[in-house]
Amino acid sequence: MKQVKVSAPCSSANMGSGFDVFGLALEAFHDTLSAELTDEGVTVEVTGLGADKIPTTLEKNTAGLVAKMMLANRKIGVKIRLEKGIPLKMGLGSSGASAAACAVALNSLLGLGFSSNDLVRIAAMGEVAAAGASHADNVAASVLGGFTIVQTSEGSVTAVRIDPPPNLEVALALPNVETPDNKTASARAVLPRSVGFREAVANAGNAALLVAGFHLGDVKLIGRGMTDLIVEPARKRLIPGYDLVKESALKAGAAGVGISGAGPAVIAVVDKNVVSTCDVAEAMKEAFLDAGVPCEACCTKPSFKGTVEV
Ligand code: HSE
Repeated sequence: MKQVKVSAPCSSANMGSGFDVFGLALEAFHDTLSAELTDEGVTVEVTGLGADKIPTTLEKNTAGLVAKMMLANRKIGVKIRLEKGIPLKMGLGSSGASAAACAVALNSLLGLGFSSNDLVRIAAMGEVAAAGASHADNVAASVLGGFTIVQTSEGSVTAVRIDPPPNLEVALALPNVETPDNKTASARAVLPRSVGFREAVANAGNAALLVAGFHLGDVKLIGRGMTDLIVEPARKRLIPGYDLVKESALKAGAAGVGISGAGPAVIAVVDKNVVSTCDVAEAMKEAFLDAGVPCEACCTKPSFKGTVEV
């Protein structure tokens, strides 16, 4: 086999209480990546959404960095063609999806036989190119699909996947907020250096509730479990109108609301049997507009599939 083409879903990291731990793969947007064997070297070509803003230098491109690591010490080369379909710098795991796509494509192309934990670990290292730090929450969701939990210790990653309940849908607000080039690194720089005991205990309880909600298929519990006393208070000031948007989503019937990844997108989880997801998305958009922030909204659902060959 000389060429492999894959599609990777976008994702929403953190889900409120699970900073750097939780991820939810979403159907809204996908990246497509093809990898073709060559005699030597790694090259990356990027087309599609925001392609002109994505560096193709291997060390600065999440897919390029993954390819460089996976091909180290091998006497072959690979040509990567990445077609971006996931908006950049929005908090929808765009860089993570490209890294995940590359790890899965090269695993198949080169017949490497890596486990899914290995693929998540390798793709997470690719995130260094975009975020300046390796975090595995987005890549786990993009590799495995569904709702994912990652636990990282001493260089190894354990990723667990749970099928989201079929009645869980997602409303996204995508505000047009000016963000720096190193958006994720900047959003990580505002995080507290230490955490109060009360907040740590509350977040542990909320995270446990959220996992129980996914396990039991209870959207209400998932929504309550998104409550976050640590990261949201620090980051919400980067998103003008955030409190108003959250309040509007809850008033419109969302089960829970949070910042999607490092933002500025806002995610609301919705029980589609209770309320229309698109109505919640529209309420969030209106609230951003009321706050003077241009905004797009979309209603979507979890992607049960992770990165797959197409
Ligand atoms: N967990 C990461 C963060 C996700 O919130 O910084 C970034 O995409």
